Amino acid sequence: MKKTDVHEARHLLLSGGVVAIPTETVYGLGGWIGSPEGLQKIFAVKERPFFDPLIVHVAGISEARALTSNWTEIHEALARAFWPGPLTLIADRGEEIDPLITSGLSSVGLRCPDHPLTLELLRSLKGGVAAPSANKFGKTSPTTALHVFQEFGDEVPILDGGPCEVGIESTVAGIRDGVVEIYRPGKFTAADLKEVLDSQGFETDVRYAESPVAPGQLKHHYMPKIPLVIVGEAFQWEKDRGEVEKLLGQRFESPVLWQQPQKAEIASRELYESLRSFDQQGFDLILTKKLPRHSEEDWRGIWNRLDKAKSGSLLK
Ligand code: TXA
Ligand code: MG
Repeated sequence: MKKTDVHEARHLLLSGGVVAIPTETVYGLGGWIGSPEGLQKIFAVKERPFFDPLIVHVAGISEARALTSNWTEIHEALARAFWPGPLTLIADRGEEIDPLITSGLSSVGLRCPDHPLTLELLRSLKGGVAAPSANKFGKTSPTTALHVFQEFGDEVPILDGGPCEVGIESTVAGIRDGVVEIYRPGKFTAADLKEVLDSQGFETDVRYAESPVAPGQLKHHYMPKIPLVIVGEAFQWEKDRGEVEKLLGQRFESPVLWQQPQKAEIASRELYESLRSFDQQGFDLILTKKLPRHSEEDWRGIWNRLDKAKSGSLLK
């Protein structure tokens, strides 16, 4: 594994390289926003289509504001409450933002990550670091340095900041027609955002919305190497395996059940790690159950990832 430190990572980024950076959510594949070469490399290494915009990671609120052309009071209030932390805010982009970052959109996604090493790195650079999750496009996001290595080998130097605390990607929120819209659910829920806005006297609604420009919203994403099937609570392998095999059109010899932890916080931290470890342990199928708790708001982000990572579901 090719590990790096903050000093060398800074140098690599400034000279047009990419570096895997730790955040509290998942590892990112970073390129400096001032280097078109670094930005190009992100897409090449990740095999990511150019229509999928990147999130820019910044050291703080003033750095974010400088990269936008309409940083509103609502952006300010949410950033003050939740940064550094797993919230990406969409704002109209500033002129200097490379169109490669935004896929030609007029908006840009910004976030200040809550990780000491990455914050130190960001403070040492002008502007910010564009970073999608450090995985091949459509696949499971990495939550440890080892996962990044398994994804890219020695092609990408890694700033190892230990395992990610949150475990699923940030909540992505924008503002449309005076309403805050969440395009990708994460640790911070609509209720969390609403509470902050209410407490500061903003009469602003917060709702979950589909965004055609947030490819986290594409139907298949976050997929493990072996199929994942979501089953009902009463599912039993011995009795019901035929249905799964019919659904996916193949036989399975070694299924494993991912038993979801009781608490959303733990389930979120362990989700990607569990999905990855099952395929390395030689299982050929992952099963997990749709549970009543999935309708609670805290579980929304986890359910969203499971739903997109699945190859199929058998829910009666
Ligand atoms: O937690 C995270 O957000 C991680 C870490 C590394 O920070 N990053 C991450 O990046 O998940 P990525 O590229 O895998 O997901 C970024 C999401 C995508 O769904 C993308 O479409 C959306 O953010 N996004 C970025 N810019 C946008 C924009 N201008 N408008 C709407 N959605 C945007
Ligand atoms: Mg991703």
